[in-house]
Amino acid sequence: MFFDLVRKTRSYRRYDPGKPLGLDRIAEFVEAARLTPSAGNLQKIRALAVTDRDDVLLLTREVKWAGYLKDWDGPDESEAPSAYLLLLSPADTGVSQIDVGIFAETVLLAATDAGFGGCMILNFPREELTERYRLAGKYRIELVISLGAPAEKVEIEEIKGGDVRYYRDGNGVHRVPKRPLSEVLLTPDEP
Ligand SMILES: Cc1cc2nc3c(=O)[nH]c(=O)nc-3n(C[C@H](O)[C@H](O)[C@H](O)COP(=O)(O)O)c2cc1C
Repeated sequence: MFFDLVRKTRSYRRYDPGKPLGLDRIAEFVEAARLTPSAGNLQKIRALAVTDRDDVLLLTREVKWAGYLKDWDGPDESEAPSAYLLLLSPADTGVSQIDVGIFAETVLLAATDAGFGGCMILNFPREELTERYRLAGKYRIELVISLGAPAEKVEIEEIKGGDVRYYRDGNGVHRVPKRPLSEVLLTPDEP
């Protein structure tokens, strides 16, 4: 069960617009994330939900998708996400990137568990979004998360020849190479 959820919680970049994601569902994902650990239990992260269709489509054009897929510019309108979450930290102090990662992955796990999915996006136009959402002086945008009902198959595979680049196979399946456990788990005898 747990491993199934972790396996299924992939980065999804093509979505079914026929299955919208409302603020009530998004709130469930953030409800899970707000319970996670944070440095000093400071709980600095805020999540700004963007659900307006025009805003979502604009963001979809602005963020950078799947750098390894050279012949794909990201989802068009027919496969755009239903919503975005902008993870924010206080502008004056910032936040541990560890906290950001824990929060973001928990959002994605909760989304997958509910039949949705998403993608963490670090390649976004910070200045433009800070201005658009009137965040200057108050918040720094740490990460963008796209959310929606996945309309693509994403599968994990064993890494070949150390090549970490994900790719799309002939059937349109997005394939993500992962390093084997033997490479990842070390012991003090063999660091
Ligand atoms: C910190 C971080 C930043 C990322 N930024 C982007 C991004 O800007 N654009 C994108 O399409 N994917 C982005 N990703 C998704 C990664 O490409 C993805 O996690 C990786 O290819 C492995 O696929 P998986 O999530 O399905 O395991 C990001 C992931 C992380 C953790």
